[in-house]
Amino acid sequence: MSQTAWWASESLWRKSAIWVTGVSFIFLIYLTFDTLPYIKAGGTNVPGFSVINKRVDYQYDEAKHRYLPVIGQDEPLFGKMLTEEEAEALVSKGKLTTQAKNCMECHTLLGNGAYYAPDLTKAWLDPAWGSKEAREADMVAFLMDPTDKLHNSIGRRMPNLGITEEEARATVAFLKWMSAINTMGFPHNFKTLDQSDAPAAAPAATAPAAAAPAK
Ligand code: HEC
Repeated sequence: MSQTAWWASESLWRKSAIWVTGVSFIFLIYLTFDTLPYIKAGGTNVPGFSVINKRVDYQYDEAKHRYLPVIGQDEPLFGKMLTEEEAEALVSKGKLTTQAKNCMECHTLLGNGAYYAPDLTKAWLDPAWGSKEAREADMVAFLMDPTDKLHNSIGRRMPNLGITEEEARATVAFLKWMSAINTMGFPHNFKTLDQSDAPAAAPAATAPAAAAPAK
């Protein structure tokens, strides 16, 4: 049957399949390496771990039409400047804690996880912490025992997960580092804590959230 049209020949389709698979494979490998600088810590969009020594803010960028993290002046976490290695160790311990305690069972981190509780990507910057001065201590206390604290009045309480003080501090470091990741404006419409150094008139306006409305 040598009369088969060229476009119907078996060998043409076999060769096409091999070429398309081969070229796609090479392209995917190229894309993988092309993406690495954007996603690794210390890269274009994900800051190095020592960013926890700095003030992290989240501001609207008029040109890009989205909120972006802004890394500011020195503002060491728990008042202690850490080296890159020390910061990495602390953030890693925090990340391991979030995995060991399965925070994703209720929360989303960078959008991944469950929708029972708020997304934690920018939790460090949540205005519900009241003031930037009280935030670190409040976050540690909240993580160690959130049961009697209704934080942002969504009406659901977080259970006590038996987190030690050391784990809580590491988790706060992880959350601070995560808030500095450029997530291209995710989560959308997130309002941030007032981090200005203006005289302390702000706390009055942001009184602790009242108890949840009775259902
Ligand atoms: C069983 C569900 C559940 C698990 C597991 C859980 N949480 Fe929560 N979490 C909640 C709920 C519900 C809230 C909201 C409580 C509130 O507003 O008072 C919350 C609130 C928070 C907040 C405040 C959020 C904000 O936007 O400021 C932080 C931070 C937080 N959780 C961290 C964690 C971490 C870290 C873990 C894992 C170690 C964790 N949670 C595990 C249910 C959970």
